[in-house]
Amino acid sequence: MEKILITGAAGFIGSNLAARLLELGHNVIGIDNLSYGFERNIANFRNNPKFQFVLGDIANPLLLKDYKADIIVHLASQKIPRYSNALKTLDENYTMLKNVVNKCIIDKCKIVYASTSDVYGKNQQLPFTEESDLVLGHPAIKRWAYALSKIYGEQYIIANHEEYRLNYTIGRLFGSYGPNQNLTWWGGPQSVFITAALKKEPVEIHGDGLQSRTFTYISDTINALMCCILNEKAQNEIFNIGSNPEEEITILELTHLIWKLINENGEPKIKFVPYSSFGKYEDVPRRVPCIDKISKYFEYKPQVKLDEGLKLTIEWQKRVLGKSYYT
Ligand SMILES: NC(=O)c1ccc[n+]([C@@H]2O[C@H](COP(=O)([O-])OP(=O)(O)OC[C@H]3O[C@@H](n4cnc5c(N)ncnc54)[C@H](O)[C@@H]3O)[C@@H](O)[C@H]2O)c1
Repeated sequence: MEKILITGAAGFIGSNLAARLLELGHNVIGIDNLSYGFERNIANFRNNPKFQFVLGDIANPLLLKDYKADIIVHLASQKIPRYSNALKTLDENYTMLKNVVNKCIIDKCKIVYASTSDVYGKNQQLPFTEESDLVLGHPAIKRWAYALSKIYGEQYIIANHEEYRLNYTIGRLFGSYGPNQNLTWWGGPQSVFITAALKKEPVEIHGDGLQSRTFTYISDTINALMCCILNEKAQNEIFNIGSNPEEEITILELTHLIWKLINENGEPKIKFVPYSSFGKYEDVPRRVPCIDKISKYFEYKPQVKLDEGLKLTIEWQKRVLGKSYYT
């Protein structure tokens, strides 16, 4: 059994990953400053003797010195500078990664790094393979700060591999959803659309809704991450972690699907919010993964169809919000 340290353990992916690792008997140290994570996400295993929770800030260079693990899964991150601060995204993502990489080099442990599909940016050749070009827009458009921080992170890790033999696996995650997701835009459009549909309120769509994405149910994301963490073949490789490219759906279609799953009758009222209201902004029109590499290496196959996964997520979200909130 391995000892695995997860940064961002009270967040969406971190808490689901910790639960899976503990189920399999691994020891887990989970660190989070609860800036975007929640105590409720770790409540089910908080008292598991194989789990240790540390409330702390990964940007603090001294924090990690008291903990030792075989593998560090680095998930803690700033994201979506559409709403948050680009400088904070650049600064904090770099500082945290530097601290984690230093720790891995000193302790000779492996890093598993959560990168993002956003690194492919404006590349119009779909689906994105791990070899695809990373094409960003103008530096004055702050939304690219997130992708840039992750591209920097990937390059920083690979440079440390060359210089100091750091062992790594990089997962480029494509939109994941499911229980423990953040209920604001931080958690992705599906979180916000579910709440709006439960409350029968207008659904806010950014742009014209024709931008398309794929959505990966959290258990599939965790299946893929588990291969990246534990399988020898993942050593020093980059993998797309996503669902089947055939699951591509526009944001407008997603709105209708979620509405239909919650309110059998009627159509959603939609409030289109122009991109210009975010200042200088640029969206990615289509984001579709090629998952051939991870499928070939580990026989990874996404198991959960979008409507199935959404039903499970809606039930969870209803429980978290409480009936009085939406009826
Ligand atoms: N969820 C997705 O669909 C998705 C897609 C692409 C990439 N990713 C990447 O996966 C990782 C996890 O994403 P998530 O959706 O679980 O995000 P999340 O925000 O739910 O979880 C991240 C956690 O990190 C914690 N954190 C942030 N800054 C910290 C700090 N300085 N010190 C300690 N803890 C800190 C937050 O409190 C939060 O609990 C991130 O790196 C993200 O960029 C996620």
